[in-house]
Amino acid sequence: MLHYIILILFVTPMLSNAEKRPNFVIILTDDQDAVLDGMTPMKNVKRFIGSEGVTFTNSYVTSPICCPSRASILTGLYVHNHMIRNNSLSGGCYGTDWRHKEHRVFANALKNAGYDTFYAGKYLNQYGVKGAGGPDIVPPGWSEWHGLVGNSVYYDYVMSNNGVPTHLTDRYLTDVIRDLSISYIENQTESRPFLMVLAPPAPHQPFTPAPRHRGFYKNTTVVKHPNFNVAAEDKHWLIKMPPTPLPDTLLPELDRVFRSRWESLLAVDEMVADVVGALEDVSQLDNTYLIYTSDNGYHIGQFAQVYDKRQPYESDIKVPLMIRGPGLGKNITDPQPVLNIDLAPTILKLAGVEATQMDGRPIDLEVKTEIKERYMLVEYYGEGRDGSVDPKCPWKYDSDNLAQCYPEYECKCQDSRNNTFACVRHIAKRLNMKYCVFDDQKNFAELYDLSEDPYEMNNAIEEEFQAIIVWYNNYLSKMLKCKGAANCDNPIS
Ligand SMILES: *[C@@H]1O[C@H](CO)[C@@H](O)[C@H](O)[C@H]1NC(C)=O
Ligand SMILES: *[C@@H]1O[C@H](CO)[C@@H](O)[C@H](O)[C@H]1NC(C)=O
Ligand SMILES: *[C@@H]1O[C@H](CO)[C@@H](O)[C@H](O)[C@H]1NC(C)=O
Ligand SMILES: *[C@@H]1O[C@H](CO)[C@@H](O)[C@H](O)[C@H]1NC(C)=O
Ligand SMILES: *[C@@H]1O[C@H](CO)[C@@H](O)[C@H](O)[C@H]1NC(C)=O
Repeated sequence: MLHYIILILFVTPMLSNAEKRPNFVIILTDDQDAVLDGMTPMKNVKRFIGSEGVTFTNSYVTSPICCPSRASILTGLYVHNHMIRNNSLSGGCYGTDWRHKEHRVFANALKNAGYDTFYAGKYLNQYGVKGAGGPDIVPPGWSEWHGLVGNSVYYDYVMSNNGVPTHLTDRYLTDVIRDLSISYIENQTESRPFLMVLAPPAPHQPFTPAPRHRGFYKNTTVVKHPNFNVAAEDKHWLIKMPPTPLPDTLLPELDRVFRSRWESLLAVDEMVADVVGALEDVSQLDNTYLIYTSDNGYHIGQFAQVYDKRQPYESDIKVPLMIRGPGLGKNITDPQPVLNIDLAPTILKLAGVEATQMDGRPIDLEVKTEIKERYMLVEYYGEGRDGSVDPKCPWKYDSDNLAQCYPEYECKCQDSRNNTFACVRHIAKRLNMKYCVFDDQKNFAELYDLSEDPYEMNNAIEEEFQAIIVWYNNYLSKMLKCKGAANCDNPIS
């Protein structure tokens, strides 16, 4: 009799817990900014996720570029711990080293704990290419795999459907991801909880909208904050590259890029509404966490740059983040500082699954009005590449150290090897600072007090007290070596 009672006491709660394990749906866009009104087209995302959950206003990425940032999201690790430095195979993007540690992707822990796991869309930029094992590979951790081969495009691509490569020429990728997701949700039998990652190409270059959305924003022009197209003499070498400011003849192109990005996002917004509807149809909406974010931000014209990411400024490192789900408040704005490496530990904690060592930490989803102090690390390795430096540009002699220099953009390069930097982003109740050091001939440094200078107009490195700079320098060098959440949160002690 006693045994019987004990059995009931222990077994019953476990079963009901198992029944209640939540589902997760992550929508991960490519290059969507938070600073240049990148969320304006997302009416459904705001209605079905933001208004029904929490909007984070201080959400940052560990690196302002796709492959390193995606690797951080998948593993919860800083760049110096997962070692994917750039978007090339040689920089670790889906290289052998990554494939050896791919079991650290958080989906593996959920799958091992009984979750069904689904991925559709862009993964790491070099996934599926010849030198990276080809599209037959189904990365570990995913029970249903629809990975895009290579980098974001909208038409004419190869998708690996559970290891079977399929060439699609004229089907708009975002819509393909939507259809697969809806079908997957409709197939759910409620017996197992599920994780889904939906990774559409928008609003990445070439910014192709679905035909039904072409022209939707035809009168919209680029956002012009005070830092738009100003010559910034106090910034690092690449920013000062001529012409600065950009000539007026280039501005219509910036408008075109700006509105095409918004138009390309409309299909993502429709997808989110359809996914929410499908979850409701199978009675899983209330038991599902929906997470909406982007892999990095973007700049268009800031400090007289053309358009790209790869810079330490807020436009590039700050991203949208909205989460709704069981137990969370509704329509809440949360200013606490969070990082992309926090998502994996947050999800595992909500699922009650133990995590491997990660540098991020679970996001505190209790409503907080007060900011808890945090130091966050941003790491970027500048690229140089023959081939993306047009021979017509005068800089061709140094093409190995420069990248993406095109005559149609006045040969203003978008990257250089010495655009390699590390920053501490420091946010506290009364503090909002950024300190960056470049790995160039000058060890150039930039310091911004964002509480007074939100557009980073004034590099305060010469004005601030030496003691503050020494403090940040020390913090930065320790953070660049940190391992694990406790150490990365407090690397000085
Ligand atoms: C859903 O089930 C149908 C019928 O078994 C199958 O053809 C389809 O591939 C499934 N969808 C997904 C995304 O797994
Ligand atoms: C867009 O601009 C055109 C030409 O200036 C104008 O005729 C049209 O009414 C505008 N459309 C909207 C939706 O504002
Ligand atoms: C959400 O909050 C904002 C501002 O706090 C308010 O304007 C809006 O009406 C709220 N939306 C809903 C759906 O409650
Ligand atoms: C990517 O990183 C690797 C290793 O640091 C480097 O050799 C390669 O040149 C980088 N790729 C580009 C395009 O700069
Ligand atoms: C940065 O790299 C470029 C291209 O190699 C070079 O011309 C320039 O002098 C470098 N600047 C610094 C500050 O290192």
